[in-house]
Amino acid sequence: MTDASPLKGLILSGGKGTRLRPITYTSAKQLVPVANTPVLFFGIRSMVEAGITEIGIIIAPETGGEIRDAVGDGSQFGAKVTFIEQDSPAGLAHAVLTAERFLGDSPFVMYLGDNLLQGGIKGLVDRFQRDDPSALILVTRVDDPQSFGIVEFGPDGSVNRLVEKPKEPKSDLALVGVYLFKAAIHDAARAIEPSPRGELEITDAIQHLVNTGQTVLSERVEGWWKDTGKLADMLEANRLVLDTLHRSIKGELVDSEVEGRVVVGEGAVLERCSVRGPAVIGEGARISDAYIGPYTAVGVGCTVDHAEVEYSILLDGSSVSHMDHRVEGSLIGRDAKVERGPRMPKAIRLLIGDSSHVRLP
Ligand code: DAU
Repeated sequence: MTDASPLKGLILSGGKGTRLRPITYTSAKQLVPVANTPVLFFGIRSMVEAGITEIGIIIAPETGGEIRDAVGDGSQFGAKVTFIEQDSPAGLAHAVLTAERFLGDSPFVMYLGDNLLQGGIKGLVDRFQRDDPSALILVTRVDDPQSFGIVEFGPDGSVNRLVEKPKEPKSDLALVGVYLFKAAIHDAARAIEPSPRGELEITDAIQHLVNTGQTVLSERVEGWWKDTGKLADMLEANRLVLDTLHRSIKGELVDSEVEGRVVVGEGAVLERCSVRGPAVIGEGARISDAYIGPYTAVGVGCTVDHAEVEYSILLDGSSVSHMDHRVEGSLIGRDAKVERGPRMPKAIRLLIGDSSHVRLP
């Protein structure tokens, strides 16, 4: 490629996270764990796997502290991480402009911190370097195009139009949250106006590249991709990642049956339990007289006692106890407690915040 400087990485980990409230009232959505690993870490790892080790992470003033604490200087991933504070969540193109000093003239991969891409980005980086466009975008077919940036293609397959969350979508090909850009994107981001929702949209900046005759290439996602912004997507991402687990039992099993791909962390104790994988039980968890069903991630130091949990995520320190009904499709916040009251309703479906305490009738 003509630009000799090495690729940098930019991960967007600011924003508001309104769709995962109440979890995100108190913590960053990019740190909500999938298979007991913060979503954000998957993006960092895939950059490092593609040879990108100089990584800037956009953070918000409110949640930046815990992201700094979790990521550190990046050495745990083999990367050098620079944190860049964005004063307000004014849009993805605004985040790019905020990072301009860090990025300089370098081409870069931009990765949305709440996105998960199974196949990694190595193939994309290779194509970007080989074909040398101003931008390489990634698309996939979705059922609800109104919820995404949408790409319309010309008859020859070229990128024609990009529209952010259209009310009447003309295409069902959504922009996936991984983009490769040359430095020309900075001028494009400066040239656009805020959208009706008040944000500087990256879709509009890419459209500006198209309008000014610069090359914008696209590629279809192979394998799965998830934007973990909503509960259903989070649980689905958890399922997909748990499906790739290898069995490893480090904790103690007492009168317990553990079937299939299950990870039990160090110091965890399971007594009179049945665990059916894929599932992960975090370090120091206490599981007794319980059933842990497929696609469940139990965080560090959790308690499950006289209860059944399946297809759910329990954040660190939370507990589920004495439940007559199986807990399913739930995301339980950090240190939250779920326990049975004197009588039960028929169905339980929960999205509860950190440190909550729910007592059902
Ligand atoms: O997930 C793919 C979609 O991501 C694309 O199809 C859309 O075109 C794109 O605009 C984006 O839409 P979302 O509405 O899902 O973006 P969200 O507000 O969730 O922000 C994505 C990530 O970027 C998230 O980790 C928060 C972070 N962010 C967001 C904004 C608005 C920032 O760091 N700064 C910001 O100003």
